[in-house]
Amino acid sequence: MTHVIVLGNEKGGSGKSTTAMHLIVALMKSGWKVGAMDLDLRQKSLMRYIENRRKFSEINGKDLLFPVVSQVEASALDSRSESQAQETDNLKSALMSLEGCDFAIIDCPGANTHLSRLAHLHADTIVTPLNDSFVDFDLLARLDPETGKVSGPSLYSEMVWEARKRRAMAGAPGGIDWVVMRNRLSATRARNKKMMGDKLDDLSSRIGFRLARGFGDRVIYRELFPMGLTLLDLGGVNSPIRLSTMSHVTARLEIRSLVASLKLPEPGEGENGGKEAAAPQQAA
Ligand SMILES: Nc1ncnc2c1ncn2[C@@H]1O[C@H](COP(=O)(O)OP(=O)(O)OP(=O)(O)O)[C@@H](O)[C@H]1O
Ligand SMILES: [Mg+2]
Repeated sequence: MTHVIVLGNEKGGSGKSTTAMHLIVALMKSGWKVGAMDLDLRQKSLMRYIENRRKFSEINGKDLLFPVVSQVEASALDSRSESQAQETDNLKSALMSLEGCDFAIIDCPGANTHLSRLAHLHADTIVTPLNDSFVDFDLLARLDPETGKVSGPSLYSEMVWEARKRRAMAGAPGGIDWVVMRNRLSATRARNKKMMGDKLDDLSSRIGFRLARGFGDRVIYRELFPMGLTLLDLGGVNSPIRLSTMSHVTARLEIRSLVASLKLPEPGEGENGGKEAAAPQQAA
């Protein structure tokens, strides 16, 4: 069984594609066969990342690991229902082509599209990177402006709730494990950082996600894209680029820590093998 990991957050620019690429490389380096799918049919950042990696590898003669890529075609049909039906078939075929993989990583767009909703239904694990800002938090939950308390779930958490419900109603085995990770964390102990932490802790038990240690705000994440490399490709004697600073070493630890906190099953363990599947809970 292929374990499906969906990178999702309706908020644009939260770090989905960057995290997707780092997870792909981390799992490949652990020896697993990994599939990659990009549902951001317009920007295609993940596919562009992988293309850059291929070019970098060819031009520099570097032997790099690559995922199995599966592309989903957008429907050109005018009728909304026909177009959605066609995209549903396209996604099913794309997923089937990744059946031999241990893990399939699906990168979603920063918008609520039909394909993104469908992908969430197929997820065994959802990873939601979240910028450390209350503007981004607003997609998960609403805060009461007077008391500052969480007043209810918001757009994206309602979408995940719906996916969990539909999956349970369809009798699909296993639940969806939802992991939220903070991204672009500042190195300083800012007030906003502490407040976000407190609100997320509160929210996690109310709407049923686990919080993973996030990634720091580091320029290196932006610099590696044109080469198609990740922090995990750096370091060691055969490294395409030298790992220069202590901050990069810390960043690699953050990525390993994220993978560990996903509690992914060892492929072959069967449905939801090693992971703690979160049971659907009533939304806040
Ligand atoms: N931890 C980080 N530190 C610094 N820059 C980062 C970090 N994570 C992501 N970025 C940068 O932030 C921008 C947005 O990241 P990314 O494209 O991965 O987000 P996204 O959620 O996939 O966006 P979209 O919703 O548009 O698909 C990119 O320029 C990326 O290089
Ligand atoms: Mg993206």
